[in-house]
Amino acid sequence: MKKSFYELCKDAGTDKVMHHGYHFFYPSFLEKLRNEKFTMLEIGYGSGESAKMWCEYFPYTSFFCIDIDTEAVHSERCRIIKADQSKKEDLQKITGKIGSAKLIIDDGSHNPRHQFDTFMYLFENLLEEGGIYIIEDIETNYWKPNAGLYGRFVGDFNLMKSISSFPDMINHEFSKIQNTLKISTVTYGQNCIIITKRTLEEQLYFDRKYRFEIFTS
Ligand SMILES: C[S@@+](CC[C@H](N)C(=O)[O-])C[C@H]1O[C@@H](n2cnc3c(N)ncnc32)[C@H](O)[C@@H]1O
Repeated sequence: MKKSFYELCKDAGTDKVMHHGYHFFYPSFLEKLRNEKFTMLEIGYGSGESAKMWCEYFPYTSFFCIDIDTEAVHSERCRIIKADQSKKEDLQKITGKIGSAKLIIDDGSHNPRHQFDTFMYLFENLLEEGGIYIIEDIETNYWKPNAGLYGRFVGDFNLMKSISSFPDMINHEFSKIQNTLKISTVTYGQNCIIITKRTLEEQLYFDRKYRFEIFTS
């Protein structure tokens, strides 16, 4: 029998379950991908615990990781590329190299400005239709601006406020706020946000005139 997400995270020693409790949220999005061959990207290598876990959880995945400090090739399907998520040219370079990804996890700098800018670039340019984007460690959005991680202050930018229009974008049929990003769903769990991108089928289905148009302003 296959080991569960929780068991593999525990075996690898990643804080995804040892501290964060992401096993309460991730399996309902990720279990269906376990037998699929697809490409995924994680931002933030750390000491490699989650890289090990992802490659075991998804045995057919082509796993890419970027980190500001690390470059390594563990196997043909597990590559760590040195890149800084706060630099658009690095995100462009990685997008050019990978092409597209079905799953993206941001466990990098945890800086709210980086979390937002990285999301805006990769969700549009790297994530496939129907793909899943996870932002971890959003706790920094509740910190004082002069608190810091990895030698940088978190600053006063707030990711949570900046994505507060996403529910209106999802409900563009009624709100008239354009869903330019093609967001399908947004799920908030403790210390993480899971955002899915509309499939082509969803995009076509919801591209229609609102039946109660006369009631909207
Ligand atoms: C929390 S660790 C990642 C842990 C790993 N994902 C795990 O669960 O085992 C965060 C990593 O992000 C990297 N990092 C920090 N700032 C970054 C940036 N601007 N761009 C890319 N990586 C960054 C750090 O070097 C560190 O290795």
